[in-house]
Amino acid sequence: LFAGPVTFVKGVVAMSGLPPADRTEVCFAGRSNVGKSSLINALTGRKTLARASNTPGRTQEINYFALGEARYLVDLPGYGYAEAPVAIVAKWQALLKQYLAGRQTLRRAFVLIDARHGVKDVDEEILKLLDRSAVTFQAVLTKVDKINKVERAAVIEQVKGALAKHPAAYPEVVVTSSEKGEGIETLRAIIATLE
Ligand code: GTP
Ligand code: MG
Repeated sequence: LFAGPVTFVKGVVAMSGLPPADRTEVCFAGRSNVGKSSLINALTGRKTLARASNTPGRTQEINYFALGEARYLVDLPGYGYAEAPVAIVAKWQALLKQYLAGRQTLRRAFVLIDARHGVKDVDEEILKLLDRSAVTFQAVLTKVDKINKVERAAVIEQVKGALAKHPAAYPEVVVTSSEKGEGIETLRAIIATLE
């Protein structure tokens, strides 16, 4: 699946702009700067496909990437960016709500959690939204190259504890580093299995 061609399809700012719901898609959600774009680049083996950046709030559209004709990978705008204007935040929240509740072909949401921080209040908001939308979600720890083994065990426990409260949560946590490549093959296999 990941060996074939990968293309950027489009950036979407309204539900009317979504591409036809003609194939399985998975989306990547998470706080601004958590590493969503970097993870998509690591998964697809393309360093600059999704724009990764040090500037929080870089990805402001719902960006669609196609794996051949088989899957869409969907990069969602980051949330929890304190400096974003209130009106913009409200607009994105509305779009995100509509997208999560209304996209028939969305099979799983990967919710990225920074391994240094664990699940925060701002993440809980989206987890509740996913519950209400009945979208199965799976937690993906990012940037594990930045923590040690003891911290890793602790954050996995914290995340599992947080997930236990959410009916839409898939219990298994994926541990990744886009920088070092850890967990990338595991995540590819999960995406390939979803139909
Ligand atoms: P927004 O689009 O603003 O929501 O951010 P994002 O979630 O797409 O994050 P992005 O991929 O742009 O990464 C943010 C920063 O974290 C960049 O400086 C990346 O280089 C860095 N980063 C991402 N993944 C990793 C990782 O696995 N390890 C390390 N050390 N840094 C990472
Ligand atoms: Mg991004």
